[in-house]
Amino acid sequence: MIANLGLNTLIIGLLVSLLSATEDMSKWLRPSEVPQPKNNKITPERIELGKLLYFDTRLSTSGKISCATCHHPKQGWTDLIPTSKAVGHNGLTGSRNSPVILNSAYQKHQFWDGRVRTLEQQALGPIEAGVEMNMSLDTLIPLLNNIKGYQKLFKKAYPKSGGVITKDYLAKAIATFERTVVSTEAPFDRYVKGDKKAISEKAKKGFALFKGKAKCTTCHDGFNFTDGSFHNVGLNDGELTGAELGRYNVKGRAGWYGVMKTPTLRDITKSYPYMHDGSVKTLEEATEICANGGRYEHNVKNKSLDIKDRGLNKTEINQLVSFMKSLTGPDMKLKIPTKFPQ
Ligand code: HEC
Ligand code: HEC
Repeated sequence: MIANLGLNTLIIGLLVSLLSATEDMSKWLRPSEVPQPKNNKITPERIELGKLLYFDTRLSTSGKISCATCHHPKQGWTDLIPTSKAVGHNGLTGSRNSPVILNSAYQKHQFWDGRVRTLEQQALGPIEAGVEMNMSLDTLIPLLNNIKGYQKLFKKAYPKSGGVITKDYLAKAIATFERTVVSTEAPFDRYVKGDKKAISEKAKKGFALFKGKAKCTTCHDGFNFTDGSFHNVGLNDGELTGAELGRYNVKGRAGWYGVMKTPTLRDITKSYPYMHDGSVKTLEEATEICANGGRYEHNVKNKSLDIKDRGLNKTEINQLVSFMKSLTGPDMKLKIPTKFPQ
């Protein structure tokens, strides 16, 4: 009898641990491999070259703007202003908040409306955009080919180029650097790996809410806290136009009206203000919008059915915020170039 009880307890114990093991915590950890295309594998030479190009202001007409102006490593890989300003191009203001490029290698789509898929396709856009670097590639490519130092580096990184710089190689080099911009180990990751003290009790409650009552994981799931998909969280009322139409501009179907890509929540404390239009200053406010059914009492056209009032009180909102703060890791190790090829 006693032996039987022991056996039962053992079986129950096993079942319980099996059941809790079904909560696969590994999905919260960054995969060790960065996805990379077959025709543009990551190599140290390519990273180094891409990094120089990323920080080189000669890629803009004003000579003052580089990719880093709007996606700076010391500013959480963004520019910390609501909508990006291209300093030097008559202060023209773009219409969207500069997203972080952190973990962009893992994204299926780039831009708030997901209009391009790969980082290679993405990289040339901002160079030519009037509100970004305002530099025509027809001007830039000869300019780069006149810089001996760059010719050499392209030849080393892409031997097949023979040192002749083309749009294609330029895009590939920048994309390679971007692929190395990945999140570091945050307190939350140490918690997932088993260090139960790595995050506070408040953050643990927040994590439970995030997966449970608040249903944030419907959209912010996996190690990068995004489903890679698009939703309208009910930020803006009234008829939307221009960039506000979001993915509708790409797909042209009513279902995509005002719909934006779910952003990562990694290092989220570093990349304020929030949302595609930078209209939200704090994490508390962003959480309230996503947890309380959007920004308005009334329903907003095409708001996601998953954005609804989850009945959370102030304490619970704060717990969610506390959890999201645990997703911030130390800045990645990076030597920002100060000397550029001549
Ligand atoms: C003047 C500011 C500015 C400059 C300069 C700039 N960007 Fe951006 N970047 C933005 C904005 C704003 C967006 C979002 C645009 C949108 O979604 O419509 C963006 C989007 C992106 C994205 C997509 C990220 C995501 O999660 O969707 C990547 C990657 C990126 N930029 C990389 C670069 C690179 C590489 C350069 C240099 C060649 C560069 N950017 C130059 C402002 C800038
Ligand atoms: C229906 C999908 C969906 C759900 C559910 C959801 N979010 Fe979001 N979240 C988004 C999208 C999409 C955005 C960007 C919206 C935009 O800019 O228009 C966003 C933006 C955010 C931002 C701002 C991020 C940034 O970089 O600007 C935070 C913070 C956030 N959500 C937290 C939460 C929390 C906490 C919950 C749970 C209470 C939650 N979200 C539930 C889809 C969702």
